[in-house]
Amino acid sequence: MAQRSSFVVVANRLPVDEVTTPDGDKQWRPSPGGLVTALHPVLTEHHGTWIGWAGGTGDAPEPFDLEGIHIHPVPLSGEELERYYEGQSNATIWPLYHDAVETPAYKRRWRETYRVVNHRFAQAAAQVADEGATVWVQDYQLQLVPSMLREMRPDLRIGFFLHIPFPPIELFMQMPFRAEILRGLLGADLVGFQQKLAAQNFVRLARHLLGLRYEGQSIQVDGRKVKAGAFPISIDTREMERLAADPSVQARAKQIRAELGDPKTVILGVDRLDYTKGIELRLKAFRELLADGKLNVGDAVMIQVATPSRERVEHYQTLRVKVEREVGRINGEFGKVGTPAVHYLHQSVDKQELAAMYAAADVMMVTPLRDGMNLVAKEYIACRGDSGGALVLSEFAGAATELRQSFLCNPHDPDGVKDALLRAINAEPAELKRRMRVMQRHLRTHDVSRWAKTFLDELGVGETSDDSEG
Ligand code: ADP
Ligand code: F6P
Repeated sequence: MAQRSSFVVVANRLPVDEVTTPDGDKQWRPSPGGLVTALHPVLTEHHGTWIGWAGGTGDAPEPFDLEGIHIHPVPLSGEELERYYEGQSNATIWPLYHDAVETPAYKRRWRETYRVVNHRFAQAAAQVADEGATVWVQDYQLQLVPSMLREMRPDLRIGFFLHIPFPPIELFMQMPFRAEILRGLLGADLVGFQQKLAAQNFVRLARHLLGLRYEGQSIQVDGRKVKAGAFPISIDTREMERLAADPSVQARAKQIRAELGDPKTVILGVDRLDYTKGIELRLKAFRELLADGKLNVGDAVMIQVATPSRERVEHYQTLRVKVEREVGRINGEFGKVGTPAVHYLHQSVDKQELAAMYAAADVMMVTPLRDGMNLVAKEYIACRGDSGGALVLSEFAGAATELRQSFLCNPHDPDGVKDALLRAINAEPAELKRRMRVMQRHLRTHDVSRWAKTFLDELGVGETSDDSEG
């Protein structure tokens, strides 16, 4: 019998992926993305069960315990991976919810598989949740789970949090099974978003599409109240500060700068290789500043770390070609032997190395065309200590609502991006430190633990620490 929990998180991904090494051995490695970064410390604090996919296909690994979290893997077949994950989640919903910056594709068979897989996740939650337990469903891959689960287990308290933007009504209306998605979400007691505007879009959509009445942020559904609200997600700020202050990380930061030839300005980008992140436009801004003679190779160097992501989805393949072509062009035109202008890493790096890169970078460029939050921006700030540094941040990242002392820019305006980058590079150290301190203070109080607490309090859950039974 499955181990039962009073606190259950349901997310597409587990915090670890099972990977097969070249020798055929199975290994677990941290999985990518902001959702895992945010939820891992929450689950470590509250214990409970994490239901999710282990990253491979075929039979799911057996449930196991990891750092106080009970891990309950859900299987996906190869066809489900293609239709539910790559198709409906990442070629339909992901682009649609990100302002359709790439054209969403709509396919009936993807929708059907999305339903089947959502049902499987709901069943897994119904199986492991204790009587009256709290189940917190995460993100756009699982929008049907709240209503499916409510039908199976009306005794549960169900929360849902969307990590990515929620689109305006006119965009949402493109989706062929829009009413089903909306009803799916309305199965929750509380639906959380990154931004106030997203919560307002949702409430208005419920009236527009289903004729439901609402008062404030509360929607009336079948005699129940469903609340919507904004809960901006964050990072484990203290942990990130501690990591960056570690002498070995500081030493590595110095070494990185030395390996780069001790330039005046190190510019850094860190993202999943995703077309919403604006990687190309930031490379182009850098190239144009080199071409204009406003920056010189040797004085300024750029590092772009891009984690491989969703590599079988067409838009991602096209993006990779474009980014790599742009990196090649910049280095071809402006690099010197032994001194490239851009250092490009298409790989994931471990936490210590990432913290060292943040600590080494004078300017961090976070330039998404649209982003629910962007935790990279927050991580950079937490890693700066009192050494200043500048964040160039897109107005279209959720983080821009909070990080007002960054150098804000409109990523659709190339001159605006160049201008923000130059202002960041040329700002006085005292001004940079002042800006950084304000943002650091904000992040110390608005950390991931506060995010989780605020959401769970609003959901009406008191103490969530789990005392699971076998
Ligand atoms: P998203 O959830 O869309 O991927 P976020 O910026 O919110 O974007 O979160 C990304 C998370 O993944 C951050 O915690 C960041 O540290 C991590 N990350 C991004 N790129 C890399 C990389 N190349 N190597 C290791 N971690 C990365
Ligand atoms: O936060 C957005 C998000 O899509 C998460 O849901 C997801 O886990 C992460 O980014 C990484 O994406 P993926 O799981 O598709 O690799």
